[in-house]
Amino acid sequence: MIPAGEVAPPAAGAPVVGVRDLFVGFGGGRKREGRVRAVDGVSFEVAPGEVFCIAGESGCGKTTLGRALLGLVKPDHGEVHVAGSEVSRLGGRRLKDFRRKAQMIYQDPMGSLNPRQTVYEAVAEGARIHALEGREEELVAGALSRAGLRPPARFFLSYPHELSGGQRQRVVIASALILGPDLLVADEPVSMLDASVRGEILKLLIDLKAEMGLTLILITHDLGFAWALADRVAVMYLGKIVELGPVEQVLTRPLHPYTKSLLEVAPEVGRRKDASVLTGEPPDPANIPPGCRFHTRCPVVVSGRAGAEEPRCRSEIPELRELWPGHFAACHLAEAALPP
Ligand SMILES: Nc1ncnc2c1ncn2[C@@H]1O[C@H](COP(=O)(O)OP(=O)(O)O)[C@@H](O)[C@H]1O
Ligand SMILES: [Mg+2]
Repeated sequence: MIPAGEVAPPAAGAPVVGVRDLFVGFGGGRKREGRVRAVDGVSFEVAPGEVFCIAGESGCGKTTLGRALLGLVKPDHGEVHVAGSEVSRLGGRRLKDFRRKAQMIYQDPMGSLNPRQTVYEAVAEGARIHALEGREEELVAGALSRAGLRPPARFFLSYPHELSGGQRQRVVIASALILGPDLLVADEPVSMLDASVRGEILKLLIDLKAEMGLTLILITHDLGFAWALADRVAVMYLGKIVELGPVEQVLTRPLHPYTKSLLEVAPEVGRRKDASVLTGEPPDPANIPPGCRFHTRCPVVVSGRAGAEEPRCRSEIPELRELWPGHFAACHLAEAALPP
């Protein structure tokens, strides 16, 4: 068994992840002019055992947010708490322990694996670094088996190039599982896989969550993936959460025009009458529009339907407000989207 870590377990019901007013930027001049605001003021909490989905177009800051959760990028401002500890303050033994308990899975399994390392070596590496108790071969076999590579010994001496994309991602997942994580951040774990195996890998993650009691943060550019997988979903646009709530609520009664537009291209959840396809690229995160950052692409504003609110959309940053119990949106026009 893996010995209990030093990171104290959170009190029952306490969030396992707490993000408060987080800003993460890259580059820019001496006074930070021109700095890319990848994560631009984000707050949320994730409960133990929850599947929390972070969705949004490419470049909106999902990966940076995921990396900040695990302390892999330094915030400009704000705090990230995981299992009761502030991540940026961890050091020494406590940091090493955190590195074991919080694991990230990236989208490209080939890029995550060393092409010259066998499956056995890849999965055993973490066990060695963290000096896990138990017979190494049993630990490796157990992790591979849990990740669905059975019989595990058949894969011990395989190299990544001998495996399918789905099998490679299972090896990456096994390398995380061997460490007995409490928190798994999966960054677009299926986006580079064949459509035919995507469902299997997502199902594996959900089954593991249930079996091992993990908390799962699932990052995706495809809002449709949140459906049936996530408990709650946060939709990001240009570094900010624009809508957050229970997945059914957000996908069937979206309040933000951006979420509605994303749903238009997610056939899994069906087309909506009030949705309109987004045009153009998101603006440059080094040069974020004033007011509501979405107003330059907002179908309501662009078509002149924002009426008397339009000046606010152009000048005032909308707060993330709770409009239904647990369902938040950052849009000056969101009330108008509420059913009477
Ligand atoms: N290491 C980095 N250096 C400079 N800019 C970065 C770096 N990582 C991300 N960015 C920029 O930050 C923004 C958000 O990127 P990212 O977090 O990767 O978004 P997503 O995962 O949603 O596609 C993008 O504009 C990206 O170009
Ligand atoms: Mg990304």
